[in-house]
Amino acid sequence: MRMLPVAGWIRRVVIVGGGILLAAGCDTGDVPGVSGVSAVELPAPHSAGARLLEQYCSNCHGVPLPDSHPPEEWPAVLRRMQHYRTVKGHGLISEPELDRLLGYLQRYAGEAQ
Ligand code: HEC
Repeated sequence: MRMLPVAGWIRRVVIVGGGILLAAGCDTGDVPGVSGVSAVELPAPHSAGARLLEQYCSNCHGVPLPDSHPPEEWPAVLRRMQHYRTVKGHGLISEPELDRLLGYLQRYAGEAQ
């Protein structure tokens, strides 16, 4: 697993996210095939992107790894997941947060196929 140094500004943004995670509620385990990882296994685990991934992407399955898709595939996956969120009544991820999340996923994405 690559562990790149986290820029100071990212570290500052992250503090805000911490408390919200536990309150999110979850019904994990009903989607097979998505390998879940815990926070410490994510690249740059304390970055804002990793926090958003945990917050918004673990309601229905385990936290997906950024390297499970090449960069160009992540936008389509996120759109599909936004759709599932509305269907399940979780509410949409805001545009600024979605941008940040996409940036994180693409930065640590897998190799193009
Ligand atoms: C409301 C439920 C829900 C939430 C929240 C959710 N997902 Fe999913 N996810 C699903 C379902 C259902 C599937 C299986 C069907 C499919 O792949 O379309 C899935 C499958 C996946 C897969 C495996 C399939 C593939 O294309 O590789 C990945 C990766 C994934 N989700 C990423 C994410 C990310 C990133 C987020 C956060 C932005 C997220 N999910 C949030 C419901 C959800």
